[in-house]
Amino acid sequence: MSDRDPEIAVDWQTRRREMARNGLRRMVELVAAKETDRAAGPLPLHKGVYIDEERFEAERQKLFLAQPVVAGLSGDILEPGDLLVFDAAGPSILVQRGKDGIVRAFRNMCTHRGAKLVEENEPWSGHRSRITCPFHAWTFDSAGKLIGQPSKTSFEGCEIGARNLLEIPCTEHLGLIFVRAGGGDPIDAAAHLGGFADLLSALELHRARPVKKGVLTADSNWKFALDTYSEGYHFSALHNTTIGQTHYNDVASVDRYGRHHRIGFPDNSIGKLIGTPEAEWPETDYGGVHFLFPNTVIFFGSIEPGKFFTQVFRLFPDGVGKTRCQFAVYAPFGVESEAQRAMCEMAYDGTAMVVQTEDYRVASAGYANLLAAPDDFHVILGSNESAVQSVQIHIAEAIGMPIN
Ligand code: FES
Ligand SMILES: [Fe+2]
Repeated sequence: MSDRDPEIAVDWQTRRREMARNGLRRMVELVAAKETDRAAGPLPLHKGVYIDEERFEAERQKLFLAQPVVAGLSGDILEPGDLLVFDAAGPSILVQRGKDGIVRAFRNMCTHRGAKLVEENEPWSGHRSRITCPFHAWTFDSAGKLIGQPSKTSFEGCEIGARNLLEIPCTEHLGLIFVRAGGGDPIDAAAHLGGFADLLSALELHRARPVKKGVLTADSNWKFALDTYSEGYHFSALHNTTIGQTHYNDVASVDRYGRHHRIGFPDNSIGKLIGTPEAEWPETDYGGVHFLFPNTVIFFGSIEPGKFFTQVFRLFPDGVGKTRCQFAVYAPFGVESEAQRAMCEMAYDGTAMVVQTEDYRVASAGYANLLAAPDDFHVILGSNESAVQSVQIHIAEAIGMPIN
């Protein structure tokens, strides 16, 4: 079985329909009971969780540099020689598919005098069968090997093979490319995903092809911005002209897979199914919000039956009070028509607008409030914000610091 193109003997569409039906059953139960999946109780978080510099430094070291983080999807660099820049986690990194089809990551740094090899910033991607340094033209192949060195005799004693690019742990699994930006041990993606891998397989992320990418920003701690993705309690108040119109407020099914989770938010069509025999329910498509610890949210869904898109949000800190979100929309099974491309572009533009002007607007203004709040101020996460609680608890555990 190749990670890039899983040959698993499963009809994924049938599997997604089963998942959709199971999800629908739970949604109908929750909506009928006017309930939501809950945590045991409310959880207070001291404001320092979001604004403390020392804590931020621990997150930078122990999460963004030390954990496997999603650098992109397989479809971002499909062909040998395709490469992307991944610089949001810390050091600038090049991720390239080699001639052998294997994806590798390297410091975006020339081994001569450290120049930046590809000067563009994330979300840049492109194709180079070889990479030539802009400073003195040392050249490297797609496996990071030094293959060209002008005035080679000036470097006598320095073996040509001894100055290959500095490689960083990287692996491709289920259509996701993971990088450990700070270096260290190889990545065991199966262990990292645990039971979540089974669910992610059904999304067939290896078939997703990028349509539109960009950067969203917030003047907020990255966790404060991330919290907005994990509850539907704010739909009717904050998103009253968009998702608040189409979805139930404060109703969510939450499934946890270790540090990762999946959330289902019911749309208004669910109400009609209450009291209707299940045999009469329409066939629906699978959709959901999938959180990959520590910073990635993958929304997989459709706006009308059969018209799917995949949205990937990767949130990174740009300092304790700045968030940079790498946002991308993919055609889940390849771009099949111009109409589908346009639909995916619309999914990008509409969502970027809502996230930037609504979710990140409140995150930014709230963050400024936290900075000025009394020393003992705690935010409080309700039992109905259970997935937000879970994210914060797992981040606190990973950095070895108290939650409140
Ligand atoms: S720094 Fe790259 S060739 Fe000199
Ligand atoms: Fe929101």
